[in-house]
Amino acid sequence: MGRVMFVNFGFLLLVISFVFLSNNTLGQQQDDDDDSAVYIVTLKQPSIVHHFEEQELKQIRHKHKKSKLKPTLQPRNNSRKHHGKSVRPSISQNHDSFLKKTLKGEKYIKLYSYHYLINGFAVFVSSQQAEKLSMRREVSNIVLDFSVRTATTYTPQFMGLPEGAWIKEGGFEVAGEGIIIGLIDTGIDPNHPSFSENDINSHHSYPTPKHFSGVCEVTPDFPSGSCNKKLIGARHFAQSAITRGVFNSSEDYASPFDRDGHGTHTASIAAGNHGVPVIVSNHNFGNASGIAPRAFISVYKALYKSFGGFAADVVAAIDQAAQDGVDILSLSITPNRKPPGVATFFNPIDMAILSAAKTGIFVVQAAGNTGPSPKSMSSFSPWIFTVGASSHDRVYSNSLTLGNNVTIPGLGFATPTDDGKMFKMISAFHALNNSTSLDKDIYVGECQDYENFDQDLVFGNLLLCSYTVRFVLGLSTIKQALDVAKNLSAIGVVFYMDPYVLGFQINPTPMDMPGIIIPSAEDSKILLKYYNNSIQRDGTTKEIVGFGAVAAIEGGLNANFSNRAPKVMYYSARGPDPEDNSFNDADILKPNLIAPGDSIWGAWSSASTDSTEFEGEKFAMMSGTSMAVPHVTGVAALIKQTYPQFSPSAIASALSNNRDSLR
Ligand SMILES: *[C@@H]1O[C@H](CO)[C@@H](O)[C@H](O)[C@H]1NC(C)=O
Ligand SMILES: *[C@@H]1O[C@H](CO)[C@@H](O)[C@H](O)[C@H]1NC(C)=O
Ligand SMILES: *[C@@H]1O[C@H](CO)[C@@H](O)[C@H](O)[C@H]1NC(C)=O
Ligand SMILES: *[C@@H]1O[C@H](CO)[C@@H](O)[C@H](O)[C@H]1NC(C)=O
Ligand SMILES: *[C@@H]1O[C@H](CO)[C@@H](O)[C@H](O)[C@H]1NC(C)=O
Ligand SMILES: *[C@@H]1O[C@H](CO)[C@@H](O)[C@H](O)[C@H]1NC(C)=O
Ligand SMILES: *[C@@H]1O[C@H](CO)[C@@H](O)[C@H](O)[C@H]1NC(C)=O
Ligand SMILES: *[C@@H]1O[C@H](CO)[C@@H](O)[C@H](O)[C@H]1NC(C)=O
Ligand SMILES: *[C@@H]1O[C@H](CO)[C@@H](O)[C@H](O)[C@H]1NC(C)=O
Repeated sequence: MGRVMFVNFGFLLLVISFVFLSNNTLGQQQDDDDDSAVYIVTLKQPSIVHHFEEQELKQIRHKHKKSKLKPTLQPRNNSRKHHGKSVRPSISQNHDSFLKKTLKGEKYIKLYSYHYLINGFAVFVSSQQAEKLSMRREVSNIVLDFSVRTATTYTPQFMGLPEGAWIKEGGFEVAGEGIIIGLIDTGIDPNHPSFSENDINSHHSYPTPKHFSGVCEVTPDFPSGSCNKKLIGARHFAQSAITRGVFNSSEDYASPFDRDGHGTHTASIAAGNHGVPVIVSNHNFGNASGIAPRAFISVYKALYKSFGGFAADVVAAIDQAAQDGVDILSLSITPNRKPPGVATFFNPIDMAILSAAKTGIFVVQAAGNTGPSPKSMSSFSPWIFTVGASSHDRVYSNSLTLGNNVTIPGLGFATPTDDGKMFKMISAFHALNNSTSLDKDIYVGECQDYENFDQDLVFGNLLLCSYTVRFVLGLSTIKQALDVAKNLSAIGVVFYMDPYVLGFQINPTPMDMPGIIIPSAEDSKILLKYYNNSIQRDGTTKEIVGFGAVAAIEGGLNANFSNRAPKVMYYSARGPDPEDNSFNDADILKPNLIAPGDSIWGAWSSASTDSTEFEGEKFAMMSGTSMAVPHVTGVAALIKQTYPQFSPSAIASALSNNRDSLR
């Protein structure tokens, strides 16, 4: 492959270099001495926010709010125009000339200039060039870019909001009004009713945000008009991913549009409209509401469906959100590993967040889903409000009653079989149309291909299918098995656990016919044993002559509110004292709080193919510390609405110490 010489002359060359690099990604270098990688460089010179004394910064923010000016902060004695048009580019230009001077005539790509929260840049250079940069006295810190990942109808009631914080502030019609929530996530589906500005439940329209300068990117899949009076900002950040050659625009969308579903889900938990009906698989599960349903939403997409995300993009997103003037930043994301470097806490994400907190922004981050072992926390800095996931008291339970009167608990949003009737069960392995099917398709037990089966054997019966790791990987799907069962005129489907699928979180899955998933391996054994023992065989030849096992599916559409709660979920990352990259205790108590994170209904992106069970649905039920974070984000918005003068620490204190303030 030929070498293309380029330096960073701007966007055009960046595009060219992308084409070049995508054929020669970091993972598969053809050139042995080319060990180029993305580095994040922080300079000693202060960033824009650090030009100000804390008191001045407050005054400026305050003045801007009062005078309804746009919020961009002005350096001392500079005019607005001066700041907007001249100061920002000059920092970026400083970075360019610093790079040019340090790496004379060599090739490199500058991905971002960070100027607002931290003064630094992300650059694609070789290790030798990185070494050169690190020796410059202007540089305070240089680290390798690292990867990050994404870590309600009812939870507002569970948290006591309708009779508590909402009432205090005039009800859900105004809950969170005026507060701007920034979300660093996978983007948003702007067409979802949870983000409509025409909130049917509210009598007045949204006010104009007083201190916001964010913009909405316009692209073919995020056309003009996608933003509105509720969704007030939307951008995407992907330079690091593009430079590494992992960005796939048909999978990831080079726009704020959410191809994954995660960002749409978390945004709706924090601030989705009140009273949006949750209709999944043609069943109405009730009305959804965000915790602060009248808050503004501004999204900063830095995570992507196919690969997750990178710190260089996340820092750019945080820098932009802070500059735009968000009040609260919500990060349902964590580093994949403790960030490298001598001081884990001084990684660029946490440093940017520290500066954000200094300007008065309250920052909430997920603890991570790496529990339950101690010190498994992936969010650790003291200036970040870290949230773990708990259960809440609603559960949708389904169950299977066997002919021997044993009842087995299971999952699945499904209708029950006919009341009071038992139906014959037939295993996929016993319903083959032809003995050669097993040789042709070794996965016949997963019920993915109707051609394997004999309709006469399945007709009117419950089909028993095995749930294997292939379902977890998306190679087989519940939807396909249900289609096969329908094609064969089965009455319903029972999925039992393959013994090798242990330890996976299985969400309740919508099913458009009677169905159930038995998530426990033990219960699956009980089911199979009963089924086996009921097989009728010829007394002498031992040939199978019939199947005697029968069962009824109770159905899982009705919520039961007697679950034990709140209880910390097993996957929620634990403290009590996180450790840094070198396994030293940090002497910090984490997480700061737990919030409902398990089995949470939230809005779902129309383009999401992330979760096959909720594909095409407007809502999905998800679990994780990711879902716990926006609950706290929403409550923080309610506190900020009531006490606009509260600093991030005051909000943290209110959240941690005074549970009654919500009630
Ligand atoms: C800023 O301007 C004011 C007057 O407009 C002046 O008193 C002050 O000394 C200036 N500060 C700096 C740092 O230049
Ligand atoms: C990008 O995604 C599309 C759609 O999933 C896929 O067909 C294509 O092969 C991908 N391209 C690369 C380079 O991975
Ligand atoms: C749900 O919202 C609709 C309006 O969207 C309203 O008519 C209905 O009464 C609500 N249902 C409940 C249970 O609150
Ligand atoms: C199951 O229970 C019902 C009544 O609850 C009883 O009539 C029936 O005999 C029981 N069947 C078995 C197999 O125990
Ligand atoms: C079984 O299927 C194969 C094709 O896969 C066919 O050749 C064969 O005749 C079938 N046997 C019976 C008994 O239906
Ligand atoms: C039986 O299976 C074969 C392939 O294994 C398929 O071609 C055939 O259509 C199936 N027959 C029925 C009745 O489904
Ligand atoms: C099953 O699927 C086949 C192929 O798509 C179709 O020809 C057949 O009519 C279907 N049968 C039923 C009962 O849906
Ligand atoms: C059921 O019987 C089959 C053989 O007919 C055997 O391979 C399987 O292990 C049995 N399963 C259970 C749970 O007893
Ligand atoms: C609700 O769940 C509890 C605990 O899991 C159970 O004891 C109770 O029978 C359930 N109630 C209904 C109506 O399903």
